[in-house]
Amino acid sequence: MPLDLEQSRRWSARAGKVVPGRAQTFSKGPLSFVEGATPAFVRRARGAQVWDVDGNEYIDYILGLGPVILGHAHPAVNRAVMEQLEDGVAFSLPHPLEVELSELLCELIPSAEMVRFGKNGSDATSGAIRLARAITGRDKVARCGYHGWQDWYIGSTSRNAGVPQCVRDLTIPFPYADVDALHRILRAGDVACVVMEPVTFDAPPADYLPSVRELCTAHGALLIFDEVITGFRLRLGGAQSLFQVTPDLSCFGKAMANGVPLSAIVGKAEYMRRFEEVFFSFTFGGEAASLAASLATIRTLRSENGIEALWRAGETLRQGTLSAIRAAGLAGTLDCAGLAPWTTLRFLGDAANHSLLLRSLFQQECAKRGVLTHGNHMLSTAHEDALLVHTITAYHQIFPILADALQSGDPASRLEGPPMQAVIRQT
Ligand SMILES: Cc1ncc(COP(=O)(O)O)c(C=O)c1O
Repeated sequence: MPLDLEQSRRWSARAGKVVPGRAQTFSKGPLSFVEGATPAFVRRARGAQVWDVDGNEYIDYILGLGPVILGHAHPAVNRAVMEQLEDGVAFSLPHPLEVELSELLCELIPSAEMVRFGKNGSDATSGAIRLARAITGRDKVARCGYHGWQDWYIGSTSRNAGVPQCVRDLTIPFPYADVDALHRILRAGDVACVVMEPVTFDAPPADYLPSVRELCTAHGALLIFDEVITGFRLRLGGAQSLFQVTPDLSCFGKAMANGVPLSAIVGKAEYMRRFEEVFFSFTFGGEAASLAASLATIRTLRSENGIEALWRAGETLRQGTLSAIRAAGLAGTLDCAGLAPWTTLRFLGDAANHSLLLRSLFQQECAKRGVLTHGNHMLSTAHEDALLVHTITAYHQIFPILADALQSGDPASRLEGPPMQAVIRQT
C-alpha cells in the first residue's frame, strides 16, 4: 500500500521557499530520505512511535538522531522540564542544578572530575579541542569519526566549503583501529590532541583503545573521547566505562537529556580548570530546563536499569534481523553490525558498491510498513517487544525485495524517489 504523503509534500514545498535545504539538519532533510516515498515532516511522537503530518504512524529507529533514549515525551523528563519552566529557565547567576548534574556526571563517568555544559555535541567537541590546544601549546588535531559542524572538524571532510585552508590543514584524519597510522601522525610531536569516537559500530579490537591511550601519553597529546553517541547508551559512564580506558577529556551530548538540548565536556580537574581562562562561554550555558531534563533522564536510566534494557532489546532485534537476512538468502550480503544499543545494516561484498541505493530501497519499504530508519537501529527503552516483532515481521517482507533488486542488478529502478545521498563522502 503506498503511503499517503500529501501533507508532507505540501510542507516540503513551503519549506523550499524559506528554509535552505528544507530542514535544519542534513540528516533530517531530503538528502537522507527517499523523497516522495518517505515522510518529510513529523507532527508528534510518544515512546518509540512517531506520527508524520499525514497521520501515518512509524516505529522510530532514528530517535531525533539518537538523543531520545527513554522514548519521546517521557513522563519523568517532561515533568522535570515543566516544573523548571514554572520556576524560570534562563538566569543571570548559576543555578544549583549545574552543580547537582556535574556531581552526578563525576560519579558516573570514569574520566570526569569536573564538568562544563554546552548545548550541541559540536559545542563540546570544539570546546575540548580549544582546551587541548591551550594546554599543550600545539595547534594540530588528529581525529577519527564524526564530530559536528565546527570548522576544525568539518574542514577536514568533503563538506569543507567555507572553511579556510589554513584551518583545514590543522586537522589530520586517521583510520579507526590502525595504531601505526596514528603513531605516524603523533611522531611529529605537534599534535595537541587525539579526538575520536571510541566505537564506530563494532567493538574495538582488544588492544586498540589501550594502545591509543599509551601513544597519546607518550607523545604529549591529550586523548579526547567523543562520546556524543556512546554516552548514556552503551553504559551510563559511556564507552570508556565499557572498555575501561580513561581519556583526558570526553564529550557528551545527545542522550544525556532525552532530546532536550544539552552537551557536556568532562575531564581531569588539572585540565578542566584551564576553562577559568579558555573561552567556553555563551548565553544559554547553564540553561536550567535542559539540566533538569538531564537529571531526570539519567536518574530514570539508572533506577530502571535502562541500559540493560537497551542491550536486551538490541540483541533481540539483531537476532531477528539476522534470521530474516538468512531467510531471504542474503547471508554474506547483508549483516546487522554494531553493539546492541545501536546497530546498523551493512551491505557486504558486491552489494557494498550499491550500498546507498540498497539502503534507500530498504528505507522506502520500511516506511510503507510503519518503520522509520536510515538503515540503523537507534534503540530507546520504549522499544517494547511488540514493536520489535513488528519490525522483524516487516524485514521478512523487505529483505526478499532487496534480494530481488540485487539479482536484477538494477536496485535504482525499484526506487519511488531519488536515493539517499551521503552527507559527508568517505575519503
Ligand atoms: C559522535 C558525534 N560527535 C559529535 C556530534 C555533533 O553533535 P551535534 O550535532 O549535537 O552538534 C555528533 C552528531 O551527530 C556525533 O554523532
